[in-house]
Amino acid sequence: MFKKLNKKKNQPNQSDFELDLHNIPEHVAIIMDGNGRWAKQRKLPRIKGHYQGTQTVKNITKVASDLGIKYLTLYAFSTENWSRPENEVNYIMSLPGTFLKTFLPELIENNVKVETIGFLEHLPNSTLNAIAKAKEDTKDNTGLKLIFAMNYGGRAEIVNSVKKIYDQLTAKGLSSDEITEQMIDEHLMTHAYPDPDLLIRTSGEQRISNFLIWQVSYSEFIFNEKLWPDFDKEELINCIKIYQSRQRRFGGL
Ligand code: FPP
Repeated sequence: MFKKLNKKKNQPNQSDFELDLHNIPEHVAIIMDGNGRWAKQRKLPRIKGHYQGTQTVKNITKVASDLGIKYLTLYAFSTENWSRPENEVNYIMSLPGTFLKTFLPELIENNVKVETIGFLEHLPNSTLNAIAKAKEDTKDNTGLKLIFAMNYGGRAEIVNSVKKIYDQLTAKGLSSDEITEQMIDEHLMTHAYPDPDLLIRTSGEQRISNFLIWQVSYSEFIFNEKLWPDFDKEELINCIKIYQSRQRRFGGL
């Protein structure tokens, strides 16, 4: 990686780093936070923030695809988000319908494959149909995997994994001594994906909020100050530059 020194402070400044296209994180996961605050700042209803947030999803998907990111996992709705006001929940549930429909041609053009993680069976039929159509129409695409976490919760995902393992072991008359990390991993909803290299949360909040709690054990975390609707290409590139400036040790030296 190339770096220049900030002449005034003689310190490296993030924006002075060149992006290293040979060290792009393979899997980026994002907690898209700040839609409500974005709307509040403009005296708009919260759902306007979610609408604007979906435009950011569109932009960032294109940038991620252009950069050669292979997996982009977006936290769209958590198992805890059901406690929000009904109109807000209904609006978020309508987003796959309105957004994925209009976005599909662009996704196909960019060779993006739509996938999901989460407890989909609890989603309304209209949401499920929209997701199913997006998956079907992009199933042969070989580029970026755009993974929406819908009604997703990390703890419930781990519990589910352990239950499946327990059922398999008891059916075979085996004991819990057989359980390994790899088995838990293989029974998670993310079993087909590598763990995230980089986890970004926008809006300045510094929490994990039950997102991929097993999978982020060795991910780099970046807490970005921008509200999600304001997060753009420049911010994503800056996050990747910060990622590239870090030394990943995976518990070693
Ligand atoms: C968090 O901001 C955001 C959400 C709970 C919803 C995010 C969803 C999208 C951006 C749309 C996803 C698109 C599809 C197609 C499913 P917040 O409301 O918690 O913001 P606040 O903390 O400022 O109130």
